[in-house]
Amino acid sequence: MFHPKLFENRNVVVTGASRGIGLEVARQFLDCGARVLVHTGRSSDRPLPDFLLTAEQDRRALLVPGDFSSAEGTEAFAAEVRRHFDRVHVLVNNAGTMVGRFPAGTLTDAQYGSVVQLNQTSVVEVTRALLPALRAAGEAAIVNTVSISALTGGSPGSAIYSASKAFVATYSKALARELAPDGIRVNCVSPGTIETDFHQRYSSPEKLEQTRKTIPLQRLGTSEDCAPAYLFLAASSLSGYITGQVLEINGGQLIC
Ligand SMILES: NC(=O)c1ccc[n+]([C@@H]2O[C@H](COP(=O)([O-])OP(=O)(O)OC[C@H]3O[C@@H](n4cnc5c(N)ncnc54)[C@H](OP(=O)(O)O)[C@@H]3O)[C@@H](O)[C@H]2O)c1
Repeated sequence: MFHPKLFENRNVVVTGASRGIGLEVARQFLDCGARVLVHTGRSSDRPLPDFLLTAEQDRRALLVPGDFSSAEGTEAFAAEVRRHFDRVHVLVNNAGTMVGRFPAGTLTDAQYGSVVQLNQTSVVEVTRALLPALRAAGEAAIVNTVSISALTGGSPGSAIYSASKAFVATYSKALARELAPDGIRVNCVSPGTIETDFHQRYSSPEKLEQTRKTIPLQRLGTSEDCAPAYLFLAASSLSGYITGQVLEINGGQLIC
């Protein structure tokens, strides 16, 4: 797909890469020659695919768990990144999930706080902690995962999740301006309805089939559909004049 040396000698950090979209993004960066610090999610016990374990043995991948449901968790993760990398060329902030479907009227403070901490605050915390290493790279890219729901508002019970993704989209645009003088580009990938564990948890098969029928390309998306957009936005040779943008990957589910 992309050139196998596209990210040679580049240090890449991908969060939320224990499965789903992030795992495929990490795989494709490894295939393009990057050294990848792979955030393996909350637990160090999750079984990981062979390609990651092989890449770890070959010292092309560093596998680092971390729970982002608190500031202590993101700071411990960022400290581990800094221990391994003095320069970060690419930061993919992808860890996130809906946490649950919470109707507006019964939403508790704890539910609200946990959705915002994971999907919004952790992105700010990890980015802030890694900014010196991104600046040190001379030329760097941040790619943040947002969601189609940042534009549509999402479906019932996902209001805070959807709004937190809109926050990240706007935060990214502001950062793009602020960090341009440092040679750091900031863009987002916005997945539509992608078949990962995410929807197994939060959507019924009937709801997914209903959604599928509304998609012009007539199918749900896959992690493989999304990952190339991250590599494209991370590679200055491919997207060096693109910053502050949101790339929608949704089969035409939203055309506006
Ligand atoms: N699938 C979709 O249709 C869709 C659509 C729009 C946007 N997105 C966004 O795309 C990103 C990836 O989602 P996905 O579909 O690949 O979902 P996924 O398969 O559920 O993966 C989510 C990733 O985030 C990590 N994560 C969740 N809670 C965490 C926490 N408290 N601390 C640290 N890491 C945590 C997970 O780690 P664990 O293994 O520990 O859970 C996992 O690595 C998310 O930001 C999601 O909001 C997905």
